[in-house]
Amino acid sequence: MKGLRGLWIFTASIASITGNMNEIPILDLKKQYESIRPEMDSAIAKVLKKGSFILGEEVSAFEQEFAAYCGVSYAIGVASGTDALQLALLAGGIGTGDEVITTSHTATATVAAIEMTGAHPVLVDIDPAHYTLDPLKFVQAISTRTRAVIPVHLYGCPAEMESIMEFARRNNLLVVEDCAQAHGASVHGKKVGGWGDMAAFSFYPTKNLGAYGDGGAVVTNDSALAEKVRCLRQYGWKERYISSIKGMNSRLDELQAGILRVKLRHLDEWNDRRRERARCYRDFLLDTELVLPETPPNSEHVFHQFVVRHSRRDELRVYLKKRGIHTLVHYPVPVHLQPFYSDRFGKPGPLDKTENVCETILSLPMFPELTSTEIDRICDRIHEFFRKV
Ligand SMILES: Cc1ncc(COP(=O)(O)O)c(C=O)c1O
Repeated sequence: MKGLRGLWIFTASIASITGNMNEIPILDLKKQYESIRPEMDSAIAKVLKKGSFILGEEVSAFEQEFAAYCGVSYAIGVASGTDALQLALLAGGIGTGDEVITTSHTATATVAAIEMTGAHPVLVDIDPAHYTLDPLKFVQAISTRTRAVIPVHLYGCPAEMESIMEFARRNNLLVVEDCAQAHGASVHGKKVGGWGDMAAFSFYPTKNLGAYGDGGAVVTNDSALAEKVRCLRQYGWKERYISSIKGMNSRLDELQAGILRVKLRHLDEWNDRRRERARCYRDFLLDTELVLPETPPNSEHVFHQFVVRHSRRDELRVYLKKRGIHTLVHYPVPVHLQPFYSDRFGKPGPLDKTENVCETILSLPMFPELTSTEIDRICDRIHEFFRKV
């Protein structure tokens, strides 16, 4: 921690000039933009000058660069992470009457995408140490109608892909990874996105790799699936104006692709910085009562969120807020307990771990530009909270 302090003096002093030092946001995209401004401005200007805005050269170049980054053969740019999930499932032949297994402790989008295909989501419990799909609960939930599984690499923590893939292969299930929060994470050195039959990424602005609007991608090593997604994203066209299958409009635009190409060049460095900040939080908070995030063995976490747990979560949140420290809860109500879904599915089985973590989790500020001074302040206030209560 001490060694890093010197390195961060520069960023801390920039923050003191440009931001309100009393407030620590959960994420600061303005700081990120300032750090890459010349590159970004020229990438945006390049697209505007060219005057081509949908599925052009920038999208093709980004698709190649992103596929290479993920270690897969194909990436197909689409309009959002939710669409990427839906299109991957549709390309894999999932539809009405099928069951798709995933977790309830996820962004609602994961479950909404299953519903949009006409399939039935089956929600199972998590391994609370890593907040990801419990492989044994997954196996127990397999029925004669199960066709696919969506492991979610939540908060940037890779799911247990080795066991999940083994169980899925044994039961002939399609695997679509939800990588919306995990760009660059890996298991045994192999990036997430390269494990399943297909994977869905979101480029929502707050993600580790975020556009300046909505965006997403499907990645795969399977040329037939890639071709199907390409067709589905644009009216079922194989050639222009000729629909050969049922399709929709879900395209990545040139501006977002140009923006993502710039940011992709910085992603590894930004993920390293997130891990560095996570290590600092750990060192400072180890002697508190908080449950701290764990990285599974042989895995690289990318800390999209730094999530701690405590039974007095709500009090701690208010305490920090009063002292200018912003936090969030990802997510306060599990999908199976949300009004629409609880009415729809009833109780899908015991999801005790999911329900328990939702009541106790808290996401602390986490972004590559977070300074050591800010982490010191956050951790000091947390220590103070536990001393006082
Ligand atoms: C785990 C997860 N899956 C899917 C999505 C959907 O992505 P998008 O918002 O780009 O549709 C998100 C985004 O919030 C997410 O966090």
